[in-house]
Amino acid sequence: MSMYDIIKHKRDGRELTPEELTEFVAGFSEGSIPDYQAAALCMAIFYQGMTSRETARFTWEMAVSGDMIDLSAIPGTTVDKHSTGGVGDKTTFVCGPIVASCGVPVAKMSGRGLGHTGGTLDKLESIPGLSIELANERFFEIVREIGIAVIGQSANLVPADKKLYALRDVTATVDSVPLIASSIMSKKIAAGSDCILLDVKCGSGAFMKTPEAAIELAQEMVAIGTQVGRRCAALITDMDQPLGMAIGNSLEVIEALDVLKGKGPADLTRICVELAANMLVLAEVDELPECRRLAQAQIDNGHAFEKFEQMVAAQGGDTRVLHDTSLFAQPQLQRVVSATSDGWIYSMDTELCGRASVELGAGRRTKEESIDYAAGIVLQAKTGSHVAAGDPIATLYASHERQLDEAAELLTQAIVISQEQPVVPPHFFARVTEQGVETYDEA
Ligand code: URA
Repeated sequence: MSMYDIIKHKRDGRELTPEELTEFVAGFSEGSIPDYQAAALCMAIFYQGMTSRETARFTWEMAVSGDMIDLSAIPGTTVDKHSTGGVGDKTTFVCGPIVASCGVPVAKMSGRGLGHTGGTLDKLESIPGLSIELANERFFEIVREIGIAVIGQSANLVPADKKLYALRDVTATVDSVPLIASSIMSKKIAAGSDCILLDVKCGSGAFMKTPEAAIELAQEMVAIGTQVGRRCAALITDMDQPLGMAIGNSLEVIEALDVLKGKGPADLTRICVELAANMLVLAEVDELPECRRLAQAQIDNGHAFEKFEQMVAAQGGDTRVLHDTSLFAQPQLQRVVSATSDGWIYSMDTELCGRASVELGAGRRTKEESIDYAAGIVLQAKTGSHVAAGDPIATLYASHERQLDEAAELLTQAIVISQEQPVVPPHFFARVTEQGVETYDEA
């Protein structure tokens, strides 16, 4: 069969056969299918969608286009967590150690910042000395010994997705549910964990702007994971305002440390505990209410903090900074952004908040740019806070005045103050499992 026929079948709304999907992914990966035909197929998928069976097969073909990580050398049921991306998301640094401290191994491969969203690897690298580039054998050894390691994806993990994502990025075909679901799940499946908890964000800082769209993506991803034999669930969580108060690399690690030490913001702590509890449920440790209690207990008894410290030490990081956070690289300049009028913080354009942190140097505008680990934003108010004109709403950290000027302008645009009291969005909207969608009961 020719690539022409495969494009035509999809354009006409037909379900592609497993053979057609294999041929496309193999041909595109090895270079025998040109970009223009792959782009045409992506556009046909964008308009026609894919069946769940088709998406699962497509995902599998992408997953096996490169290295498949074999975690069988690690005893126990391995659990991974994936966030679809947001602003201020530092939950991995809390959930991972909680889960590992309960005896459930976490062998995690993470990514770097993308656009306005921060990346786990960049945040981890703000810890002096910490390496995210470990050989697989060393990675497995650390997980066997202490129960957790977080490293970068190996260069040959899902090469088909790397190539296809770059093409989608320039052909207006990123925001297609089957293409996003297969892109994310191919990497999670290749990374080898038995269980995968998906944290699907929705709101102004997320890919998916509404809970309904996030649920649709979550259902697709859970279906894919289940069809290829992984235990999979998803929580739909809010990204209509930044998560916690800190945005930026070392600032977020410091906030995560606060949570691990039992003195973090209540909302962030709650979210981390729920995510960790759901990871424990997937690993069949216990039912949700018990796992929730267990997760909170691991913070209260200090075991989760100790686990994070062990991980940092094993990956070569300087653990002194975890106890004395003034030892992190310090920002050179700071500026307070104040409320321009009395009223309620009505809404926060979270993508703009993320862009403001990139302007400060906390993210990259081009792939080549380096990161200023100390740069970022600490919010003093969030949606639902009441402020008076002149009250501080955020402190910006950077190395150049120009960066502070640009970020202050973006943040002022992002934060809307109103006389009307807003409805503050819930932290969780729904839980999606193989069994279906349930309204999330946080109680
Ligand atoms: N993240 C991914 O890895 N892939 C997508 O397509 C979108 C977000």
